[in-house]
Amino acid sequence: MRLKGKVAIITGGASGIGRATVHKFVREGARVLVADIDLKKAEEVVAEVAAEGFEGAAAAARVDVSQFVEVEATVAHAVELFGKLDVIFNNAGIAGGRPLLDHDPEIDYAPMIRIDQDGVYYGILAAGRQFREQGTGGVIISTSSIYGEQAAELAFSYSAAKAAVISFTRSAAYELAEFGVRAVAITPGRVGTPIINQFSEELKQTFSSEQLRGVLTEPEEIADVVAFLASDEANVINGTVVHVDDGYSSFKQRFALPTF
Ligand SMILES: NC(=O)c1ccc[n+]([C@@H]2O[C@H](COP(=O)([O-])OP(=O)(O)OC[C@H]3O[C@@H](n4cnc5c(N)ncnc54)[C@H](O)[C@@H]3O)[C@@H](O)[C@H]2O)c1
Repeated sequence: MRLKGKVAIITGGASGIGRATVHKFVREGARVLVADIDLKKAEEVVAEVAAEGFEGAAAAARVDVSQFVEVEATVAHAVELFGKLDVIFNNAGIAGGRPLLDHDPEIDYAPMIRIDQDGVYYGILAAGRQFREQGTGGVIISTSSIYGEQAAELAFSYSAAKAAVISFTRSAAYELAEFGVRAVAITPGRVGTPIINQFSEELKQTFSSEQLRGVLTEPEEIADVVAFLASDEANVINGTVVHVDDGYSSFKQRFALPTF
């Protein structure tokens, strides 16, 4: 068990990548606070975990990651419940967007930045302070995206927020190393979660073709990597980006080039 005895907060733990990671962490021996704006769904994940035989290994909490006081309270809550904090997975996020010139900044920019960017900053800050106080070190994993490294369709604000997550990760690793804290960002490609599953079969086919295996990534495949990154086996992975995109960022497009 990779995470035996560890305590983790997983934001956005009620769905998709976060939900799969809650299950993986618990199976690896961790205790997890499932922190999400959707408390009902977070509680359902806790019930799933209990039904799997891990009663008491997970608890649910409502948090809006765009509010620093709520993120601070979530960290305090995890410590109150489980006695300490070892890992935070800053994963909550929203996607979507409109063409830049159609933007209303209050609708198409501010909310995205508040959740996908500020939410990660708040998680790093609140958990970092807890790790310093404990004197135990800790691990900060944050979900960026392939869009954090490139321009993409309808993603002006999303790409900016996800790029900031990468920058935060580098800076946090640099600043918090003296407290034994590691920070890593992951960049998923096309993952079969509600964000993607809402689209037509045709569009999902296109998304699949953008990855080297030609399929959408399963959330569980991302969770496996996150569990490894959270474990002591990943101690040398620090201040960097781990691409979990099935090759998306390594090639442009498949097309039939005539032989010559
Ligand atoms: N699915 C993909 O293809 C993909 C690709 C790259 C990056 N990502 C990123 O992965 C992360 C997880 O996405 P997912 O695909 O699992 O989506 P999802 O919609 O299944 O899960 C996101 C979760 O975040 C929660 N959430 C939203 N706003 C919140 C807030 N203000 N405070 C707390 N919780 C909030 C939602 O309730 C939901 O449970 C996101 O950061 C997303 O940007 C996803």
